[in-house]
Amino acid sequence: MIDELLSPCVAPSLLSADFGRLSAGVELLLGAGARLIHVDVMDGHFVPNITVGPLVVAAIAPQIHAQRGRIDCHLMIERPELYVEQFAQAGADIITVHQEACPHLHRVTQQIREAGALAGVAVNPATSLSTLDEIRAHCDMVLVMSVNPGFGGQQFIATSLEKLRRARALLPANVALEIDGGVNAKNAADLRAAGANILVAGHSIFDTPDPAEAYRQLARAIGA
Ligand code: DX5
Ligand code: ZN
Repeated sequence: MIDELLSPCVAPSLLSADFGRLSAGVELLLGAGARLIHVDVMDGHFVPNITVGPLVVAAIAPQIHAQRGRIDCHLMIERPELYVEQFAQAGADIITVHQEACPHLHRVTQQIREAGALAGVAVNPATSLSTLDEIRAHCDMVLVMSVNPGFGGQQFIATSLEKLRRARALLPANVALEIDGGVNAKNAADLRAAGANILVAGHSIFDTPDPAEAYRQLARAIGA
C-alpha cells in the first residue's frame, strides 16, 4: 500500500461534508475517482473542536474498501495511543498522530504498524521539522499542517510551501508527504512541485456547487 501513497493523490477531507448524508458524500467522491478519504478526528482537548470517532470510521469503511479506497485517519487528539487499535479495527488504513501529542512517538508508530495500519506523523505549523529527525526512519507518512488544526476552511499559511520542500528533502524516498489545510486549485500544483504526494482538501471540494468536479480539477492540477 505504501506505493499507492507515493503517487500523487488528492484526499478529500470529510470535515466539510454534510454529516447527515456522509455516505452520499463519500459515494460522490469515490465516483469522481478519489481513492483516499481523509477523516479528521478531534477531541476538544488537543484542538478546540470535537468531530467523530471509530464508530463513524467503521460505518463508512465497507463502502470505501469495496471500491478499493483507503481511509486516512488524522487523529488530532491527546493520548492517541489509547485509540490506535480501535481505529485500526474500524478500518483505518493510515493512522496519523501529532508529534505534539506524543512524548513516546516511536512507541506509537510501532503500535500503529502492529495494529496493521500505516503510521503517519503530523506536525503543526509552529513545530520544527527537526522534531522528525529520529522518527523519519520509523514512519510511513509525514503530514505537514498548513493551517492550525481544528477547523476546515482556513487560509493556507504561506510559509508552509517552503516547509514542505524542506520536509521532502529530509524524508527518505519511501516516506509519503501529506499537506493539510487551505489546499485549493490555485496552490495545488505548487504543493505537488514542492514534494507533496497527498493533498488533503475539504473546503475547496465540498463547499462548491459541484464537489465531484472540484475534486477532478484538483486531481488534474497535480497530475493524479
Ligand atoms: C484541519 C483538518 C483538515 C481540514 C482541511 O484541522 O486537519 O483536514 O479538513 O480543511 P480545508 O481543506 O478546508 O482547509
Ligand atoms: Zn486533517
